[in-house]
Amino acid sequence: MTKPPIAGNRTGRKLGQKVKKGKLKASSRRWIERHINDPYVQRAKLEGYRARAAFKLLEIDEKHQILKGARRIIDLGAAPGSWSQIAAKVTDSTDTDVRVAAIDFLEMVQLPGVHILQLDFLEDEAPQRLLDAIGGAPDVVLSDMAAPTTGHQKTDHLRTMHLCEVAAYFAVEVLAEGGHFLAKTFQGGTERDLLNMLKRNFQQVLHIKPASSRQESVEMFLLAKGFKGRREGDLAEENPRDQVQPEDPREHETYGNEDDE
Ligand SMILES: C[S@@+](CC[C@H](N)C(=O)[O-])C[C@H]1O[C@@H](n2cnc3c(N)ncnc32)[C@H](O)[C@@H]1O
Repeated sequence: MTKPPIAGNRTGRKLGQKVKKGKLKASSRRWIERHINDPYVQRAKLEGYRARAAFKLLEIDEKHQILKGARRIIDLGAAPGSWSQIAAKVTDSTDTDVRVAAIDFLEMVQLPGVHILQLDFLEDEAPQRLLDAIGGAPDVVLSDMAAPTTGHQKTDHLRTMHLCEVAAYFAVEVLAEGGHFLAKTFQGGTERDLLNMLKRNFQQVLHIKPASSRQESVEMFLLAKGFKGRREGDLAEENPRDQVQPEDPREHETYGNEDDE
């Protein structure tokens, strides 16, 4: 079982700390307080993971056994790299025999055994470069991609869903038979068409909310287990990669009516 988060101060830091009122905005102060008092943040530090997100993957894996025996893994939206750390470990990946490819448009500090691409996954060249890096079909495709926040919740939501969809089609194009696909999604956000496509291609499709995912967050994970293998003409339907990213409707808002002038 995944160990429960530490409750005390084994990192040398006590929980329940307050940040002094000062020049910080109240919302920033609340964010910092939540972060430094988060037991998963402290446990990530203690166990050498780059992010608390590690525990979401570990928790899901503990229950659903998706990493066991994986020879190659692709990690989409990988920075700062805690999922890649786990992926490198389970695949015994080394710099001379690289089994993990990670992509993020943010810069990522090097990780032993992980081929890092600093690139937008939506770029046309991304899929082939990821595959080339590991020299064969992955057994697992992971996606923790979340679109950068614009401040417009609906747009952020749609953009993250678009990333999830593109990742799902990529998984179906590249996975080895029997492989698994895990991706970040939102509560109530997975499109019926996407779910149907996954159900046709995998033995089992489920939504998961790990305990380490903040309860107040609408984040969920979509897990598709047991890839049935590619069949001729399977993905002839529209590939979401060819569609444009959902736009921020505010970019088209008109402030005032020109006819009034
Ligand atoms: C929640 S973080 C991932 C955390 C990571 N799983 C870990 O364990 O460290 C989401 C990441 O997705 C990346 N991302 C979002 N859209 C992307 C895109 N189109 N291409 C590549 N990376 C993307 C962001 O830059 C961000 O670093």
